[in-house]
Amino acid sequence: MNSLTSQPLRKKSPEVEERQPEATFEKNTNLAVEPIAESQSRDEAVSAADFSNETESFALTEVQEIEINLLLEALYQMYGYDFRGYVRASLTRRILNRIKGERVPTITALLEKVLHVPGTLERLLNDLSIRMTEMYRDPSFFAAFRTEVVPLLRELPEIRIWHAGCATGEEVYSMAILIREEGLAEKTKIYATDMNEKALSAAQKGAFPLKKMQQYTKNYLKAGGTKAFSEYYTTDHQCAYFKPLLDDNLIFAQHNLVTDGSFNEFHVILCRNVMIYFANSLQQQVHRLFYDSLAAGGFLGLGSKESILFLPKGVDYEEFNPHERIYRKMPNLAV
Ligand SMILES: C[S@@+](CC[C@H](N)C(=O)[O-])C[C@H]1O[C@@H](n2cnc3c(N)ncnc32)[C@H](O)[C@@H]1O
Repeated sequence: MNSLTSQPLRKKSPEVEERQPEATFEKNTNLAVEPIAESQSRDEAVSAADFSNETESFALTEVQEIEINLLLEALYQMYGYDFRGYVRASLTRRILNRIKGERVPTITALLEKVLHVPGTLERLLNDLSIRMTEMYRDPSFFAAFRTEVVPLLRELPEIRIWHAGCATGEEVYSMAILIREEGLAEKTKIYATDMNEKALSAAQKGAFPLKKMQQYTKNYLKAGGTKAFSEYYTTDHQCAYFKPLLDDNLIFAQHNLVTDGSFNEFHVILCRNVMIYFANSLQQQVHRLFYDSLAAGGFLGLGSKESILFLPKGVDYEEFNPHERIYRKMPNLAV
């Protein structure tokens, strides 16, 4: 994986396989198209606030606006992290918090520290990347995936799933269990990416706090889980370890949705609770990336507060299950 401090980070991770379009839904013309239809508790607290205040604007002075622009420009030019197209209100709140955390008087002083004092960049990136997640988050999404999408995936000779913005991996292990229970594990590869290296290393470990297992078990059952959830992990006194049992088809790699390109062709892309932090034009750009990375007839799953409102020209989806935010790339009928 690339390191948080290496620069620039725009290059493709060597761990991500080259694009290899193979199994597509086009080959399965008989597939029925269903018509429309904490890691850290501190993070979670901040994130919950973010969701409700995403559009709330801050009364910044003109100078502060300029300082924020300069800080974002520096993050991009120096380190390759591009937050320039993110929703401003949320970014601003986080930057102002970091100023307090670093005990500096101004955004310019934070900028200087980010450029010259090791460790500052990592702390700022941690603040800017919101990692709130849980296993089977929105269980009804996973239940719909199991009953409506899986039967169509079953027809494919091989299946590639991309979790974009996987944070600490809870969503990825949830999917790995589901795929295994549906008997698809042997032909499925799950690619899990995030821009945040720290989150990604946690995801690779597949170890989640034991105290969360009660909630996750409830979510698993609501999501249509068919076994005793405890079959999927081993424990010590602090953590539940999922990795040894589910490792075979998981590939983790650092990938930035803003600056990195497409790296494979997928039958499913889940990007849940990530684009909510992107302004409209960045959402359009990332939708283009997903559309270009999906096989014809492939599925896109978004978070419960996200939608396909901001699609660029030429990108079109069938609303497969709009309530659960599951969309399907219009099958390409051109032969
Ligand atoms: C709130 S978490 C969502 C986790 C999971 N998808 C879920 O719904 O539970 C958002 C994740 O998106 C990642 N993220 C934000 N901007 C990104 C970008 N430009 N490229 C890749 N990942 C990004 C963050 O690092 C964070 O881990």
